[in-house]
Amino acid sequence: MKVVLNDLVKNFANSERAAVNRINLVIDDGELAVLLGPSGCGKTTTLRMIAGLEQPDSGRITIADRDITDLAPKDRRVAMVFQNFSMYPTMNVYDNIAFPLHAIKMDRKAIDQTVREMARLVNIDHLLERGVRQVSGGEAQRVALARAMVRRPEVFLMDEPLSNLDAKLRVQLRTEIKRLHQDTGTTFIFVTHDQEEAMTLGDKIIVMNQGDIQQVGTPHEVFFAPRNAFVANFVGTPSMNMLRGRARAGDDGGFRAELPGFELRLPDRFAAGLRRMRGDQVIWGIRPEAIRLVAAPAENTVTGEVELVEALGSRDLIFARVGEQLFGVIVDALESAQVGDTCHLHFDGAKMHLFNAETEDSLLQFSAAEPA
Ligand SMILES: Nc1ncnc2c1ncn2[C@@H]1O[C@H](COP(=O)(O)OP(=O)(O)OP(=O)(O)O)[C@@H](O)[C@H]1O
Ligand SMILES: [Mg+2]
Repeated sequence: MKVVLNDLVKNFANSERAAVNRINLVIDDGELAVLLGPSGCGKTTTLRMIAGLEQPDSGRITIADRDITDLAPKDRRVAMVFQNFSMYPTMNVYDNIAFPLHAIKMDRKAIDQTVREMARLVNIDHLLERGVRQVSGGEAQRVALARAMVRRPEVFLMDEPLSNLDAKLRVQLRTEIKRLHQDTGTTFIFVTHDQEEAMTLGDKIIVMNQGDIQQVGTPHEVFFAPRNAFVANFVGTPSMNMLRGRARAGDDGGFRAELPGFELRLPDRFAAGLRRMRGDQVIWGIRPEAIRLVAAPAENTVTGEVELVEALGSRDLIFARVGEQLFGVIVDALESAQVGDTCHLHFDGAKMHLFNAETEDSLLQFSAAEPA
Protein backbone atom coordinates (compact mmCIF):
# COMPACT_ATOMS: atom_id res chain seq x y z
CA MET A 1 0.00 0.00 0.00
CA LYS A 2 1.08 3.54 -0.63
CA VAL A 3 2.47 5.34 2.41
CA VAL A 4 2.46 9.13 2.58
CA LEU A 5 4.09 11.26 5.28
CA ASN A 6 2.88 14.84 5.41
CA ASP A 7 4.82 17.50 7.32
CA LEU A 8 5.69 14.98 10.00
CA VAL A 9 7.35 16.44 13.11
CA LYS A 10 8.62 14.78 16.28
CA ASN A 11 10.37 16.56 19.12
CA PHE A 12 11.56 14.72 22.19
CA ALA A 13 11.78 16.49 25.55
CA ASN A 14 15.31 17.62 26.52
CA SER A 15 16.42 17.94 22.93
CA GLU A 16 17.12 21.20 21.12
CA ARG A 17 16.78 19.72 17.68
CA ALA A 18 13.70 17.98 16.29
CA ALA A 19 14.26 14.22 15.92
CA VAL A 20 12.13 14.42 12.78
CA ASN A 21 11.87 17.84 11.26
CA ARG A 22 8.73 18.26 9.13
CA ILE A 23 9.36 15.57 6.56
CA ASN A 24 7.32 14.83 3.45
CA LEU A 25 7.60 11.51 1.71
CA VAL A 26 5.67 9.28 -0.67
CA ILE A 27 6.39 5.55 -0.76
CA ASP A 28 4.54 3.85 -3.58
CA ASP A 29 2.51 0.67 -3.30
CA GLY A 30 4.77 -2.37 -3.41
CA GLU A 31 7.97 -0.39 -3.23
CA LEU A 32 11.07 -1.37 -1.26
CA ALA A 33 12.11 1.93 0.27
CA VAL A 34 15.24 2.34 2.36
CA LEU A 35 15.74 5.05 4.97
CA LEU A 36 19.47 5.70 5.07
CA GLY A 37 21.42 8.04 7.31
CA PRO A 38 23.92 8.33 10.14
CA SER A 39 23.18 7.44 13.75
CA GLY A 40 20.65 9.77 15.34
CA CYS A 41 19.26 11.19 12.08
CA GLY A 42 15.68 10.12 12.86
CA LYS A 43 15.25 6.83 11.00
CA THR A 44 13.86 4.79 13.90
CA THR A 45 11.64 7.66 15.04
CA THR A 46 10.15 7.90 11.53
CA LEU A 47 9.52 4.16 11.41
CA ARG A 48 7.99 4.11 14.90
CA MET A 49 5.60 6.89 13.92
CA ILE A 50 4.46 4.87 10.90
CA ALA A 51 3.99 1.82 13.15
CA GLY A 52 2.07 3.89 15.71
CA LEU A 53 4.58 3.31 18.49
CA GLU A 54 5.38 7.01 18.61
CA GLN A 55 2.88 9.85 18.22
CA PRO A 56 3.98 12.75 15.97
CA ASP A 57 3.76 16.31 17.34
CA SER A 58 2.20 17.37 14.06
CA GLY A 59 1.70 16.13 10.52
CA ARG A 60 -0.30 13.25 9.07
CA ILE A 61 0.41 9.70 7.93
CA THR A 62 -1.76 7.96 5.37
CA ILE A 63 -1.64 4.36 4.17
CA ALA A 64 -3.56 3.66 0.96
CA ASP A 65 -5.13 7.13 1.27
CA ARG A 66 -6.51 6.30 4.71
CA ASP A 67 -5.39 8.68 7.48
CA ILE A 68 -3.97 6.42 10.19
CA THR A 69 -2.24 9.08 12.30
CA ASP A 70 -4.54 8.53 15.26
CA LEU A 71 -5.06 4.78 14.93
CA ALA A 72 -3.68 2.29 17.45
CA PRO A 73 -0.72 0.22 16.17
CA LYS A 74 -2.84 -2.93 15.94
CA ASP A 75 -5.34 -1.24 13.62
CA ARG A 76 -2.75 -0.11 11.08
CA ARG A 77 -2.05 -3.37 9.25
CA VAL A 78 1.62 -2.65 9.66
CA ALA A 79 4.29 -5.04 10.96
CA MET A 80 7.68 -4.07 12.32
CA VAL A 81 10.89 -6.01 12.89
CA PHE A 82 13.38 -4.51 15.28
CA GLN A 83 17.12 -4.65 15.47
CA ASN A 84 16.93 -6.51 18.78
CA PHE A 85 13.96 -8.72 18.14
CA SER A 86 12.79 -11.04 20.88
CA MET A 87 11.43 -14.57 20.75
CA TYR A 88 9.35 -16.61 23.14
CA PRO A 89 12.20 -18.79 24.41
CA THR A 90 10.06 -21.71 25.60
CA MET A 91 8.28 -22.10 22.28
CA ASN A 92 9.66 -23.76 19.18
CA VAL A 93 10.10 -21.98 15.86
CA TYR A 94 6.66 -23.04 14.62
CA ASP A 95 4.84 -21.64 17.64
CA ASN A 96 6.82 -18.41 17.56
CA ILE A 97 5.69 -17.81 13.99
CA ALA A 98 2.12 -18.94 14.73
CA PHE A 99 1.76 -16.77 17.82
CA PRO A 100 0.38 -13.62 16.15
CA LEU A 101 -2.20 -15.77 14.36
CA HIS A 102 -3.48 -17.40 17.55
CA ALA A 103 -3.83 -13.89 18.91
CA ILE A 104 -6.31 -13.04 16.14
CA LYS A 105 -8.05 -16.42 16.58
CA MET A 106 -7.36 -17.80 13.14
CA ASP A 107 -8.41 -21.44 12.82
CA ARG A 108 -5.76 -24.14 13.17
CA LYS A 109 -5.74 -25.30 9.61
CA ALA A 110 -5.28 -21.80 8.23
CA ILE A 111 -2.57 -21.14 10.80
CA ASP A 112 -0.71 -24.27 9.76
CA GLN A 113 -0.87 -23.36 6.12
CA THR A 114 0.28 -19.78 6.72
CA VAL A 115 3.15 -20.73 9.03
CA ARG A 116 4.49 -23.29 6.58
CA GLU A 117 4.20 -20.96 3.67
CA MET A 118 6.04 -18.13 5.43
CA ALA A 119 8.70 -20.52 6.72
CA ARG A 120 9.29 -21.72 3.19
CA LEU A 121 9.62 -18.15 1.92
CA VAL A 122 12.48 -17.43 4.33
CA ASN A 123 14.06 -20.92 4.10
CA ILE A 124 13.44 -22.17 7.61
CA ASP A 125 10.81 -24.82 6.89
CA HIS A 126 13.24 -27.51 8.08
CA LEU A 127 13.57 -25.80 11.48
CA LEU A 128 9.93 -25.55 12.53
CA GLU A 129 10.18 -28.12 15.33
CA ARG A 130 13.41 -26.68 16.77
CA GLY A 131 13.51 -24.64 19.94
CA VAL A 132 14.37 -21.03 19.24
CA ARG A 133 17.47 -21.39 21.43
CA GLN A 134 18.76 -24.05 19.05
CA VAL A 135 18.94 -21.89 15.94
CA SER A 136 21.73 -19.62 14.72
CA GLY A 137 21.54 -15.81 14.70
CA GLY A 138 20.70 -15.73 11.02
CA GLU A 139 18.01 -18.38 11.41
CA ALA A 140 16.52 -16.54 14.39
CA GLN A 141 16.38 -13.39 12.27
CA ARG A 142 14.43 -15.30 9.63
CA VAL A 143 12.02 -16.53 12.29
CA ALA A 144 11.48 -12.89 13.24
CA LEU A 145 10.83 -11.97 9.59
CA ALA A 146 8.38 -14.85 9.17
CA ARG A 147 6.57 -13.99 12.40
CA ALA A 148 6.19 -10.37 11.34
CA MET A 149 4.92 -11.36 7.91
CA VAL A 150 2.30 -13.99 8.87
CA ARG A 151 -0.43 -11.47 9.44
CA ARG A 152 0.08 -10.24 5.90
CA PRO A 153 0.78 -6.64 6.75
CA GLU A 154 0.11 -4.02 4.11
CA VAL A 155 3.34 -2.34 5.09
CA PHE A 156 6.38 -4.11 6.50
CA LEU A 157 8.78 -1.98 8.53
CA MET A 158 12.29 -3.21 9.27
CA ASP A 159 14.66 -1.36 11.57
CA GLU A 160 18.25 -2.47 10.91
CA PRO A 161 17.17 -6.12 11.05
CA LEU A 162 20.55 -7.41 9.89
CA SER A 163 22.91 -5.42 12.06
CA ASN A 164 23.56 -8.23 14.56
CA LEU A 165 24.69 -10.65 11.92
CA ASP A 166 28.13 -11.35 10.52
CA ALA A 167 29.07 -9.86 7.16
CA LYS A 168 28.46 -12.93 4.99
CA LEU A 169 25.10 -13.69 6.53
CA ARG A 170 24.01 -10.09 6.11
CA VAL A 171 24.64 -10.26 2.39
CA GLN A 172 22.76 -13.55 2.14
CA LEU A 173 19.74 -12.33 4.15
CA ARG A 174 19.68 -9.13 2.14
CA THR A 175 19.07 -11.19 -0.98
CA GLU A 176 16.34 -13.10 0.83
CA ILE A 177 14.62 -9.93 1.96
CA LYS A 178 14.69 -8.74 -1.60
CA ARG A 179 13.11 -12.01 -2.71
CA LEU A 180 10.54 -11.91 0.08
CA HIS A 181 9.63 -8.47 -1.16
CA GLN A 182 9.26 -9.66 -4.73
CA ASP A 183 7.24 -12.72 -3.75
CA THR A 184 4.80 -10.89 -1.50
CA GLY A 185 4.49 -7.57 -3.34
CA THR A 186 4.13 -5.87 0.05
CA THR A 187 5.39 -2.34 0.63
CA PHE A 188 8.66 -2.59 2.58
CA ILE A 189 10.36 0.22 4.47
CA PHE A 190 13.84 -0.79 5.54
CA VAL A 191 16.12 1.25 7.81
CA THR A 192 19.89 1.09 7.71
CA HIS A 193 22.91 3.31 8.29
CA ASP A 194 24.92 1.12 5.92
CA GLN A 195 24.97 2.79 2.53
CA GLU A 196 26.05 -0.36 0.73
CA GLU A 197 23.10 -2.25 2.19
CA ALA A 198 20.79 0.57 1.13
CA MET A 199 22.16 0.59 -2.40
CA THR A 200 21.81 -3.16 -2.92
CA LEU A 201 18.31 -3.42 -1.43
CA GLY A 202 16.40 -0.31 -2.28
CA ASP A 203 14.18 0.64 -5.19
CA LYS A 204 14.07 4.04 -3.59
CA ILE A 205 16.56 5.47 -1.13
CA ILE A 206 15.65 8.22 1.30
CA VAL A 207 18.81 9.84 2.65
CA MET A 208 18.26 11.53 6.03
CA ASN A 209 20.42 13.74 8.21
CA GLN A 210 19.55 15.54 11.43
CA GLY A 211 15.84 14.94 11.12
CA ASP A 212 15.63 16.16 7.53
CA ILE A 213 15.30 14.32 4.25
CA GLN A 214 18.33 15.19 2.13
CA GLN A 215 17.42 13.36 -1.06
CA VAL A 216 14.99 10.79 -2.36
CA GLY A 217 16.06 8.81 -5.40
CA THR A 218 17.07 5.52 -6.94
CA PRO A 219 20.41 4.07 -5.83
CA HIS A 220 21.77 5.32 -9.13
CA GLU A 221 20.51 8.86 -8.56
CA VAL A 222 21.83 9.29 -5.03
CA PHE A 223 25.22 7.95 -6.14
CA PHE A 224 25.69 9.74 -9.46
CA ALA A 225 23.62 12.85 -8.84
CA PRO A 226 23.81 13.70 -5.14
CA ARG A 227 21.85 16.89 -4.59
CA ASN A 228 24.08 18.17 -1.83
CA ALA A 229 27.51 17.68 -0.27
CA PHE A 230 26.11 15.59 2.59
CA VAL A 231 24.65 12.95 0.26
CA ALA A 232 27.79 13.03 -1.91
CA ASN A 233 29.94 12.32 1.11
CA PHE A 234 27.66 9.79 2.81
CA VAL A 235 26.90 7.58 -0.18
CA GLY A 236 29.74 5.56 -1.70
CA THR A 237 32.78 3.82 -0.21
CA PRO A 238 35.49 4.89 -0.16
CA SER A 239 34.08 8.41 0.16
CA MET A 240 34.17 11.04 -2.53
CA ASN A 241 37.27 13.24 -2.54
CA MET A 242 36.05 16.75 -1.68
CA LEU A 243 37.91 20.05 -1.66
CA ARG A 244 36.88 23.60 -0.87
CA GLY A 245 37.91 26.32 -3.26
CA ARG A 246 36.79 29.17 -5.46
CA ALA A 247 35.17 29.17 -8.89
CA ARG A 248 35.94 31.96 -11.34
CA ALA A 249 35.08 32.71 -14.96
CA GLY A 250 38.02 31.97 -17.28
CA ASP A 251 39.07 33.91 -20.39
CA ASP A 252 37.40 31.38 -22.66
CA GLY A 253 33.96 31.90 -21.09
CA GLY A 254 34.17 28.64 -19.14
CA PHE A 255 34.69 28.37 -15.41
CA ARG A 256 37.79 27.31 -13.53
CA ALA A 257 38.09 26.00 -9.99
CA GLU A 258 40.92 27.29 -7.83
CA LEU A 259 41.58 24.54 -5.35
CA PRO A 260 44.35 24.29 -2.73
CA GLY A 261 47.52 23.83 -4.75
CA PHE A 262 46.04 23.49 -8.24
CA GLU A 263 43.47 24.71 -10.77
CA LEU A 264 40.99 22.84 -12.93
CA ARG A 265 38.75 23.59 -15.87
CA LEU A 266 35.14 22.99 -14.88
CA PRO A 267 32.70 21.39 -17.30
CA ASP A 268 30.04 23.62 -18.85
CA ARG A 269 27.16 21.90 -17.11
CA PHE A 270 27.98 23.84 -13.94
CA ALA A 271 28.09 27.22 -15.71
CA ALA A 272 24.41 28.15 -15.25
CA GLY A 273 24.54 27.29 -11.55
CA LEU A 274 27.80 29.16 -11.05
CA ARG A 275 26.48 32.30 -12.75
CA ARG A 276 23.45 32.39 -10.50
CA MET A 277 25.32 31.56 -7.33
CA ARG A 278 25.90 34.21 -4.72
CA GLY A 279 29.65 34.41 -4.04
CA ASP A 280 32.27 32.12 -5.52
CA GLN A 281 33.01 29.59 -2.78
CA VAL A 282 32.53 26.01 -3.91
CA ILE A 283 33.10 22.44 -2.82
CA TRP A 284 34.53 20.38 -5.64
CA GLY A 285 34.36 16.60 -5.59
CA ILE A 286 35.32 13.47 -7.48
CA ARG A 287 34.89 9.81 -6.53
CA PRO A 288 37.97 7.60 -6.06
CA GLU A 289 36.84 5.33 -8.90
CA ALA A 290 36.44 8.30 -11.26
CA ILE A 291 40.10 9.33 -11.07
CA ARG A 292 42.48 7.81 -13.62
CA LEU A 293 46.22 7.48 -13.34
CA VAL A 294 47.82 8.74 -16.55
CA ALA A 295 51.38 8.54 -17.87
CA ALA A 296 52.05 12.25 -18.23
CA PRO A 297 50.56 15.56 -17.04
CA ALA A 298 47.81 17.00 -19.27
CA GLU A 299 44.81 19.29 -18.79
CA ASN A 300 42.96 18.59 -15.54
CA THR A 301 45.77 16.43 -14.19
CA VAL A 302 47.66 16.93 -10.97
CA THR A 303 50.89 15.31 -9.92
CA GLY A 304 51.27 13.64 -6.56
CA GLU A 305 53.05 10.94 -4.67
CA VAL A 306 51.64 7.57 -3.64
CA GLU A 307 51.57 7.44 0.14
CA LEU A 308 49.57 4.30 0.91
CA VAL A 309 48.20 1.31 -0.99
CA GLU A 310 45.32 -0.83 0.29
CA ALA A 311 44.40 -4.06 -1.48
CA LEU A 312 40.66 -4.45 -2.11
CA GLY A 313 40.89 -7.67 -4.10
CA SER A 314 40.72 -7.11 -7.82
CA ARG A 315 41.34 -3.44 -7.23
CA ASP A 316 43.59 -1.31 -5.03
CA LEU A 317 42.77 1.86 -3.16
CA ILE A 318 45.75 4.14 -3.31
CA PHE A 319 46.16 7.38 -1.41
CA ALA A 320 48.09 9.98 -3.36
CA ARG A 321 49.34 13.15 -1.75
CA VAL A 322 49.00 16.40 -3.68
CA GLY A 323 50.25 19.17 -1.40
CA GLU A 324 48.02 19.16 1.68
CA GLN A 325 45.41 16.96 0.10
CA LEU A 326 45.26 13.18 0.15
CA PHE A 327 43.30 11.72 -2.79
CA GLY A 328 41.77 8.28 -2.65
CA VAL A 329 42.05 6.62 -6.05
CA ILE A 330 40.71 3.20 -7.05
CA VAL A 331 42.86 1.42 -9.59
CA ASP A 332 43.01 -2.03 -11.14
CA ALA A 333 45.24 -4.14 -8.87
CA LEU A 334 47.29 -5.25 -11.86
CA GLU A 335 48.09 -1.66 -12.77
CA SER A 336 48.61 -0.46 -9.25
CA ALA A 337 51.37 1.83 -8.02
CA GLN A 338 54.04 1.51 -5.33
CA VAL A 339 54.41 3.68 -2.27
CA GLY A 340 56.70 6.57 -3.17
CA ASP A 341 55.84 6.55 -6.89
CA THR A 342 55.10 9.82 -8.61
CA CYS A 343 51.63 9.69 -10.14
CA HIS A 344 49.52 11.87 -12.39
CA LEU A 345 45.84 11.99 -11.46
CA HIS A 346 43.44 12.80 -14.23
CA PHE A 347 40.03 14.26 -13.33
CA ASP A 348 37.41 13.67 -15.97
CA GLY A 349 35.09 16.68 -16.18
CA ALA A 350 32.08 14.45 -16.79
CA LYS A 351 32.60 12.86 -13.37
CA MET A 352 33.17 15.99 -11.31
CA HIS A 353 30.71 17.21 -8.69
CA LEU A 354 30.33 20.80 -7.58
CA PHE A 355 28.49 22.28 -4.64
CA ASN A 356 27.80 25.79 -3.38
CA ALA A 357 30.09 25.97 -0.31
CA GLU A 358 27.61 28.12 1.58
CA THR A 359 24.41 26.11 1.08
CA GLU A 360 26.17 22.83 0.20
CA ASP A 361 23.60 22.30 -2.57
CA SER A 362 24.71 20.83 -5.88
CA LEU A 363 25.20 23.47 -8.54
CA LEU A 364 23.35 21.22 -10.95
CA GLN A 365 20.40 21.01 -8.62
CA PHE A 366 20.52 24.76 -8.20
CA SER A 367 20.34 25.45 -11.90
CA ALA A 368 17.54 22.94 -12.42
CA ALA A 369 15.46 24.30 -9.55
CA GLU A 370 15.69 27.98 -10.43
CA PRO A 371 13.87 29.45 -13.41
CA ALA A 372 16.29 30.84 -16.00
N1 LIG B 1 12.73 8.33 23.49
C1 LIG B 1 13.57 9.34 23.19
N2 LIG B 1 13.74 10.37 24.03
C2 LIG B 1 14.55 11.42 23.73
N3 LIG B 1 15.26 11.51 22.58
C3 LIG B 1 15.12 10.51 21.70
C4 LIG B 1 14.30 9.38 21.95
N4 LIG B 1 14.37 8.55 20.88
C5 LIG B 1 15.22 9.14 20.01
N5 LIG B 1 15.68 10.32 20.50
C6 LIG B 1 16.57 11.26 19.81
O1 LIG B 1 16.01 11.55 18.54
C7 LIG B 1 17.00 11.58 17.53
C8 LIG B 1 16.67 10.57 16.44
O2 LIG B 1 16.75 9.26 16.99
P1 LIG B 1 16.48 7.95 16.14
O3 LIG B 1 16.46 6.82 17.09
O4 LIG B 1 15.30 8.16 15.30
O5 LIG B 1 17.79 7.89 15.24
P2 LIG B 1 18.27 6.78 14.20
O6 LIG B 1 18.42 7.46 12.90
O7 LIG B 1 17.36 5.60 14.26
O8 LIG B 1 19.72 6.40 14.74
P3 LIG B 1 20.49 4.97 14.85
O9 LIG B 1 21.09 4.72 13.50
O10 LIG B 1 21.54 5.24 15.89
O11 LIG B 1 19.49 3.94 15.27
C9 LIG B 1 18.32 11.33 18.23
O12 LIG B 1 18.93 12.55 18.47
C10 LIG B 1 17.91 10.65 19.53
O13 LIG B 1 18.83 10.95 20.54
MG1 LIG C 1 17.64 3.64 14.90
